[in-house]
Amino acid sequence: MGPMIDELAEKEKRERKPVEKEPKVEPRSESRKIEVAHHEPDAFAKKVKMKAEGICAWFGTKQALFDVNIDINEKAVTAIIGPSGCGKSTLIRCFNRMHETVPGSRFAGDIFLEDKSIFDPRMDPVAVRRRVGMVFQKPTPFPTLSIYDNVAIGLRLNGTRDKKTLDEVVEKSLRKAALWEEVKDSLQKAGAALSGGQQQRLCIARSLAVELEVLLMDEPCSALDPISTSKVEELIHELRQNYTIIIVTHNMQQAARVSQKTAFMLNGKLIEYDATEKVFTNPTNKLTEDYITGRFG
Ligand SMILES: Nc1ncnc2c1ncn2[C@@H]1O[C@H](COP(=O)(O)OP(=O)(O)OP(=O)(O)O)[C@@H](O)[C@H]1O
Ligand SMILES: [Mg+2]
Repeated sequence: MGPMIDELAEKEKRERKPVEKEPKVEPRSESRKIEVAHHEPDAFAKKVKMKAEGICAWFGTKQALFDVNIDINEKAVTAIIGPSGCGKSTLIRCFNRMHETVPGSRFAGDIFLEDKSIFDPRMDPVAVRRRVGMVFQKPTPFPTLSIYDNVAIGLRLNGTRDKKTLDEVVEKSLRKAALWEEVKDSLQKAGAALSGGQQQRLCIARSLAVELEVLLMDEPCSALDPISTSKVEELIHELRQNYTIIIVTHNMQQAARVSQKTAFMLNGKLIEYDATEKVFTNPTNKLTEDYITGRFG
């Protein structure tokens, strides 16, 4: 997936009406503890897939990130939580070099994908964005393209013309995105004809069709109903067998359900980063505790 797709998708997102945020998490009472479903004692034993070192990011003169250091484990789900404006989207947009596409933006620090800096002059930003794909808050299929073409677009832009190859990749990607059974008889219908939840899975299929390794998800469920949300959450589970996932969410129950590690951010700084269970049941930092118990944010 090239910058074209990302930029077009982003542009579409901007042009649409803003999506309402999920309701704020209410103060937690004893009877309403956040359940952590997928505790993994080996959350730290996994290989590091991406590593951010000393990231600072600016929009013009406004600094949005301050010296963020974070290791992202391979084949695991990392959740990023924190109040609105704390820099969650900016951080994940650094991970696939989308931050630098904003006019007037600046960046300092380094990010490694496996052992190579994604800012190395020999690294093509387009190739980085194929390996590190992004799914947005509002599903962004190309509304006039068919379901098939929405999935095939990345490959086509890379020059793949062979129909058999395209057919295979489209089916495989739709299967991986848990959408195949619902759309296999209507592949030529417009992407816009799908429900919001299906469109979100279509966008995931679009990312999976290229040689994706890391999937960045920026509030992927906040525009979805509860059933579509649980389908996407199930899908995240499946995908983490093979992919590295970073998910930004305002829904703390969701962070606890889907992730193995959680990062809490505040005012552009990474305040706490630990196993999800630890962050939600016994956070080290008072600020984290205040946030997850709903005292602010
Ligand atoms: N394109 C932009 N131009 C100028 N400032 C920006 C831009 N995008 C973000 N910012 C600023 O950078 C800071 C971090 O924004 P960011 O979008 O990363 O926050 P967030 O944690 O994702 O918030 P939300 O939960 O509301 O999505 C905010 O102060 C925001 O106003
Ligand atoms: Mg955001």
